[in-house]
Amino acid sequence: MFYGPSGVGKTETAHFINGLLGGALLRKQFSMFHSEKFASYVFGGAHSEVSFAHDLLDRESGVILVDEFDKANPIFHSAFYQLFDDGVFEDKNYRVELGASLVICTSNYRTEDDIRAALGDALYSRFDALVEFASLDAEGVKRVIDRIVDGRFSTLTAVEQEWLDLPKIKTMLQARLQNLGNVRKLGKLIDEVISLMLVRAMLEEEGKALPS
Ligand SMILES: Nc1ncnc2c1ncn2[C@@H]1O[C@H](COP(=O)(O)OP(=O)(O)O)[C@@H](O)[C@H]1O
Ligand SMILES: [Mg+2]
Repeated sequence: MFYGPSGVGKTETAHFINGLLGGALLRKQFSMFHSEKFASYVFGGAHSEVSFAHDLLDRESGVILVDEFDKANPIFHSAFYQLFDDGVFEDKNYRVELGASLVICTSNYRTEDDIRAALGDALYSRFDALVEFASLDAEGVKRVIDRIVDGRFSTLTAVEQEWLDLPKIKTMLQARLQNLGNVRKLGKLIDEVISLMLVRAMLEEEGKALPS
């Protein structure tokens, strides 16, 4: 179980681990399912309906990502007991033996106590590891900003790159965004800042070209 605030790399880490092992990751985002459909997805429905068991049978890789585990209704928790105990998942139609697998669940719980309170002892104690993800510290934010800015910069044309003062942009962003530990938000803000600077530079160029 990976737990911690949003946008600090839980899902990304699951993808990274899967990348080391190979194959297409089986990712299920639990917040996307609403109760009625979700019940037949987890417990099995008509043969033609999509189901977790079927997805498990069909999967290509050893990593199973159950994203946003905390957003699933507690009614569904019982479905995971046997999966976590013996690596067996059973619904109305199928019985799946997982074999060598790594099941990663992500959640926004804040502490181990929160996990225990929300999931109950039975499920809580079945996790082999509870891995805390913390918000990035100032040094981490700085490194991520540098990387994102470099990444965006490398996609620009030579002319656009000339319009921008790269070190200045980094210093400015680092000063203003040091308390933002959510990398998803950092990326969006950096995109906006770079776009704005490009538009301004472009307008300035256009202005110069106009007859005075
Ligand atoms: N520590 C980090 N370093 C670099 N990029 C990160 C980091 N954490 C998150 N990101 C990036 O931020 C975005 C959101 O990360 P994600 O793993 O989806 O967050 P979470 O699952 O914790 O909500 C992704 O694009 C990811 O690549
Ligand atoms: Mg996530």
